[in-house]
Amino acid sequence: MDVRRRITSFDEYKEEYQKSVDNPEGFWEGHAESFVWKKKWDKVLDWNFSGPEVKWFEGGELNITENCLDRHLEERGDKVAILWEPNEPGEAAIKLTYKQLHAKVCEFANVLKAQGIKKGDRVCMYMPMIPELAIACLAAARIGAVHSVVFAGFSSNALSDRVNDAEARVILTSDGNYRGKKNIPVKSVVDQACETSPCVESVIVVQRTNAEVTWVDGRDKWWHDEVAKVDVNCPATAVASEDMLFILYTSGSTGQPKGVVHTTGGYMVYTDYTFRNAFQYNEDDVYWCTADIGWITGHSYIIYGPLLAGATTMMFEGVPTYPDAGRFWEVCEKHKVNQFYTAPTAIRALQAYGTEFVEKYDLSSIKALGSVGEPINEEAWQWYHKNIGKGNCPIVDTYWQTETAGFLISPLAGITPEKPTYATLPMPGIQLAIMDADGNEIEGNGVEGNLCIKYPWPSIIRTTYGNHDRCKEVYFGTYKDMYFTGDGCRRDEDGYYRITGRVDDVINVSGHRMGTAEVENAINEHSNVVESAVVGFPHEIKGQGIYAYVICDEIPADEDTFRTEVLKIITKEIGPIAKPDKIQVVPGLPKTRSGKIMRRILRKVAEGDVSSLGDTSTLLDPSVVDSIVSGALVPIKD
Ligand code: WTA
Repeated sequence: MDVRRRITSFDEYKEEYQKSVDNPEGFWEGHAESFVWKKKWDKVLDWNFSGPEVKWFEGGELNITENCLDRHLEERGDKVAILWEPNEPGEAAIKLTYKQLHAKVCEFANVLKAQGIKKGDRVCMYMPMIPELAIACLAAARIGAVHSVVFAGFSSNALSDRVNDAEARVILTSDGNYRGKKNIPVKSVVDQACETSPCVESVIVVQRTNAEVTWVDGRDKWWHDEVAKVDVNCPATAVASEDMLFILYTSGSTGQPKGVVHTTGGYMVYTDYTFRNAFQYNEDDVYWCTADIGWITGHSYIIYGPLLAGATTMMFEGVPTYPDAGRFWEVCEKHKVNQFYTAPTAIRALQAYGTEFVEKYDLSSIKALGSVGEPINEEAWQWYHKNIGKGNCPIVDTYWQTETAGFLISPLAGITPEKPTYATLPMPGIQLAIMDADGNEIEGNGVEGNLCIKYPWPSIIRTTYGNHDRCKEVYFGTYKDMYFTGDGCRRDEDGYYRITGRVDDVINVSGHRMGTAEVENAINEHSNVVESAVVGFPHEIKGQGIYAYVICDEIPADEDTFRTEVLKIITKEIGPIAKPDKIQVVPGLPKTRSGKIMRRILRKVAEGDVSSLGDTSTLLDPSVVDSIVSGALVPIKD
């Protein structure tokens, strides 16, 4: 069997899916065989969800960068691997061929070695969307080090927390970060983070904007200076299949963000397989995913999936609205993009500017469109389909998570019959289960419930860094022997899946995950705040907005000033992406006699729908609800 062949028909998909369920080990072993391994595995899969403990390709040894880079050199060494489009349309794009990327990765791997970085050590990246970010991740992987990318919009406190949790010895950053009209001083954020992160021994800085930076001698080094000191040969270090490839922090319902851990062999097999099949990538295609590498989408579907498949993957430094709302389409025309992958929040934002920004450009190269990060609403789906896809491009609505590292449910472009707003059908290898509130699986079609997965796939989360119990409790503790996604879903009459959104206390703002507890902790730092409760509410562009209810020690003399102070604290503790859209000062929160906040009520008020608040008789003080409703910051529908 030529396993690198793609699925080409819907019947073939169904067959392949069935095979993956009947014999998962045989199925994935076949795909693993198409890669370069330094030593073959002894056992395909060993698992239990009670630990949880999942091991794919145990005994196998490999290096993922040999599969992303070296393996392609002979056949497509001169093909563009990374196509980088800068923030300014006037600045030249950079094209790195597989050969050039290979050389740069090896070179920077030697820089990391020179800093004393060894296999298993953690390296943190706090960088803009420049080629060096992808190079850095691959360079770490080249020597068996673990990368931990922190989105460069997080605050210094958030960065420091993540650096400390991972005990990273090195931070890679740049002098500045161009984002539209802004030049964000990222190096100074790193400087501040380092004040509370004593584990950091060195900071390596890419010169990008020539912004002035403060310098700590001995600790800080310029990227270009260090690269000049090393040679370009760096043999790939063999790592075990289950050795850690990266940590990526993500928000959950409770507490601080947790470090999701992914390992090497299974991650490689799954991201390659899902990328090739969902997007139906062809050898000469140009593929563009607009995500930031600070999130899982960038890890799996800008760097690893596409490079494993030998694709040309584009990286974009800027924002969709700079210099104007036509930028995405201008870039699609310029680079003749064939697969374009973005988030519903971006589609809705651009839709609001009108179609004249689209019509100026020739989008005829586009063959497939993708969507990720949140449920796509009907209007956005139709707009995307009609205006960008010109009515004849499939939309690949990929449903998945940081913890799953690859697509769980997604159409295969042009193969799976589509249904607007549906993520459609599971990828081969993904055995879904819909669960009811009592923990029973709901069989049949035309049903709704909580979405779980019954069987491990190669890139399932292995642990949460430094705290395995948390992984066990959050993902495997709700339903026996099941991985719980935290999402609700519907399976319609045709067996098609539609994700209905989070059923836990995670809010999805512009496709970014935000934990309510995290935002509340930040708000509570304000000296006049006694307690707070945060919920999500429907937002036209962002999908969900953040609504905060706050109890103050003393009623603020000026509520606007108070709100500004709270927003400042949130920006400092987490970053601007966590700023609430509404902050309502309330006299109390709706609590049960056991002290639990009834968030259901707060969500309803934030939605403006108080017609069905349900039973409030179990509240300690039901009158609190009336005062919350009367002070609500949204129009209340009767
Ligand atoms: C949501 C992003 C509906 C979902 C890849 C999930 C989606 C969370 C979709 C994970 C989609 C992601 N349709 N909902 N196509 N894609 N989600 O970890 O709630 O940043 O649990 O991973 O985003 O967000 P994360």
